Amino acid sequence: MNASVQILRSLLLLLLLLLTLPATGSDSVLCFTQYEESSGRCKGLLGKDIHVQDCCLNAAYAFKKHDSGHCQACRSPQWSTWSPWTPCSVSCTEGSQLRHRRCIGWGGQCSGEKAPGTLEWQLQACEEQKCCPEMGGWSDWGPWGPCLVTCSKGTRIRQRVCNNPAPKCGGHCPGVAQEAEACDTQQVCPTHGAWGAWGSWSACLGSCSDKTHKPVETRSRTCSAPEPSKDPPGKPCSGPANEQRLCSGLPPCPVAGGWGSWGPVSPCSVTCGLGQTLEQRMCNNPVPKHGGPFCAGDNTRAHICNTTVPCPVDGKWENWSDWSSCTRPHLSSIRCKEIPGQQTRVRSCKHRKFNGQRCVGQHQEIRHCYNIQNCIFGEKGSWSSWTAWGLCTPPCGPNPTRVRQRRCMSPLPKFLPTISIVEGQGEKNVTFWGNPLAQCEELQGQKVLLEEKRPCLHTPACKEPEEENP
Ligand SMILES: *[C@@H]1O[C@H](CO)[C@@H](O)[C@H](O)[C@H]1NC(C)=O
Ligand SMILES: *[C@@H]1O[C@H](CO)[C@@H](O)[C@H](O)[C@H]1NC(C)=O
Ligand SMILES: *[C@@H]1O[C@H](CO)[C@@H](O)[C@H](O)[C@H]1NC(C)=O
Repeated sequence: MNASVQILRSLLLLLLLLLTLPATGSDSVLCFTQYEESSGRCKGLLGKDIHVQDCCLNAAYAFKKHDSGHCQACRSPQWSTWSPWTPCSVSCTEGSQLRHRRCIGWGGQCSGEKAPGTLEWQLQACEEQKCCPEMGGWSDWGPWGPCLVTCSKGTRIRQRVCNNPAPKCGGHCPGVAQEAEACDTQQVCPTHGAWGAWGSWSACLGSCSDKTHKPVETRSRTCSAPEPSKDPPGKPCSGPANEQRLCSGLPPCPVAGGWGSWGPVSPCSVTCGLGQTLEQRMCNNPVPKHGGPFCAGDNTRAHICNTTVPCPVDGKWENWSDWSSCTRPHLSSIRCKEIPGQQTRVRSCKHRKFNGQRCVGQHQEIRHCYNIQNCIFGEKGSWSSWTAWGLCTPPCGPNPTRVRQRRCMSPLPKFLPTISIVEGQGEKNVTFWGNPLAQCEELQGQKVLLEEKRPCLHTPACKEPEEENP
């Protein structure tokens, strides 16, 4: 036995002695006012360098030998509860684990004649896992898989299996089971189409709006940012290329006028014969609005109405008859004498019907006259000047001619031109009636009438006249 072993032994003995010896009364300690049973801690430091006997005059107090010492209660000693078991000493196959308790108190012993401060231990076998893990070995790498993209550059992977040998008891293989490397498909990726920005809104496709016209404006965009590639084919843009919306702020559309229905029939315009009745309608179905056109066509229409009453026809004078012979009652002849006679002419009112008006005026006229028919008076007559040319006859036949004349004019006798029949009733004219026998110098072999006849020249043909519009 050498000297170092002997020194180690004596040191161990000293340690045992110190642990088992009860604290001496003269020891000075840190004194606390409370011992916390649940945690075994001292609480409420009262003071340092206090004699244990003094501190523990109160059994509720506790003390520590020095700052880092464990807390001892002043009450009579008792075993603390057991600590939890320590973890098993090995993680696989059988091992062991410990727990402990301490004798806490002062002035006595815990059961088993153990002084306060004594630790008591328990040890038990434990086994977390029956066997210990064994590393496995990798298989060879498998072949590289396909590139994980279909165009351009990507990665591919290969794998190996942990089965050569397989690990045991939860073991594994060191390293990774999968490896990646870059790959290149040598394929150009297709470019997918994307929409360009919307163009500006078009002009409105209409200039007014109402219930049936709701014009819109449109805008469009192209699949050009970028355009889809052709080879390889890229996806076209999805969604509409055109968009539309209602135009805003448009004036209302013009409304063309429409005729209302025909109104009541007016009374017949006449009280006899045929007349007209009128119907009227108004341009109010609808009334034209917002500059729309007025109704086309007439706002009145007429119908013939038949009063079935014949209209009155006024009477009309016919021409006067010729004057009757100039005579004087009770005298056989007054011819060629300065004796006034009387003569009459008459006319009749004709055509009056259906209570029409009668003719106005006299139907008979009477005048005073001198009868000079075929009389010969002393003086010679004289030729009149030529009359105006007469009409061409025949008007439509061949070779028309016209005529003018000179007449032998006999002088009238110097009879009184007026007479007074009843005193105070004024004068009455006396008219010469009849033609005296003419006595003129012979003119171109004629004694009474000289005629000149001439053809009418450049005569137009007679034809049906155009419809006349008087
Ligand atoms: C008018 O009425 C009369 C009498 O009924 C009849 O004779 C005539 O034919 C009618 N005329 C027309 C145009 O209806
Ligand atoms: C009536 O007298 C006028 C003027 O003298 C004449 O033109 C007309 O032919 C006469 N009518 C008849 C029906 O005799
Ligand atoms: C009589 O004759 C004159 C002249 O010829 C004439 O002015 C006058 O009116 C006539 N009187 C009557 C009553 O016919």
